[in-house]
Amino acid sequence: MKIIASAQEMQEFSIASKQAGKTIAFVPTMGNLHEGHISLAKQAKETADIAVVSIYVNPAQFGPNEDFDTYPRTPDADIKKLQSLGIDIVFLPAKPELYPFGNEEYTQVICPRLDTMLCSISRPHFFTGVATVVTKLLNIVQPTKAIFGEKDFQQLLVIKRVCKELFMPVEIIGHPIVRESSGLAMSSRNNYLTDDEKCTAANLFKVLTQAKQDIEAKPAKLSDANYPSSLEEHARIALVEHGFKVDYFEILNAETLTKDINDSSRSLVIAAACYLNKTRLIDNVYIEL
Ligand code: PAJ
Repeated sequence: MKIIASAQEMQEFSIASKQAGKTIAFVPTMGNLHEGHISLAKQAKETADIAVVSIYVNPAQFGPNEDFDTYPRTPDADIKKLQSLGIDIVFLPAKPELYPFGNEEYTQVICPRLDTMLCSISRPHFFTGVATVVTKLLNIVQPTKAIFGEKDFQQLLVIKRVCKELFMPVEIIGHPIVRESSGLAMSSRNNYLTDDEKCTAANLFKVLTQAKQDIEAKPAKLSDANYPSSLEEHARIALVEHGFKVDYFEILNAETLTKDINDSSRSLVIAAACYLNKTRLIDNVYIEL
């Protein structure tokens, strides 16, 4: 396994590999790798000749009062895990590589509409930061395929939209959510939770699953405009009773992330974000009707 710190070296490696007829699968991460990331990396390994994983805590996607400084950074352990999986390249950009003109003034990629809802309401800078860094990473690594987790459902849609609209020659693949046995979606931020909080956190998936089961049991009721909002309200109350502070709990059209849902919308997503004390958790369930 090779570790590359320079953007230019990474790009030259990719160009030469593709000229030699190799395919490249790429998994961008912010490190502190858990089984969710590992599952994406395994898929990369299986799906192309060369598997590249990047580790970079991207300052542009953190707000001024967020956890950029304290975000868990475990590069040595991460590298060992990737080595044992047989990953070919770890792209670990040195500090100035991705923002050569500094973190204050840089070209931004702004994805309209999708970045004005759900997570964007409490984190308005977030998707511009993600779209910007992912565009840079895809331009550097030039993968055939890039794999992203469905846990970050809105992020996945933003990235698909950006790649399509900017004519980027890459296939974006969504990977199912990897969960603890309790149902809690794996996340680097779960490290902030105490054991008690982890038990409580598992209720987020239970509440999502209950709403999914209610919809699957009677999909025709979706044509009643009040039904989804009553399910959402019921779920928000349940989450508060479990000790969460709810940021959002929304039943949406999975293609457009709009409220345009009725029994003819074939795929829905129920997306939720909430705080357990200071830790922000996100999760979602997908419904194919
Ligand atoms: P990070 O949170 O490290 O996640 C890296 C990738 O792992 C993302 O595609 C995310 O959706 C996926 N992932 C995380 N937890 C998962 C789980 N439990 N199951 C399945 N996939 C999971 O997301 C980011 O980093 C950043 O925003 C990034 C895209 C790297 C841009 O900086």
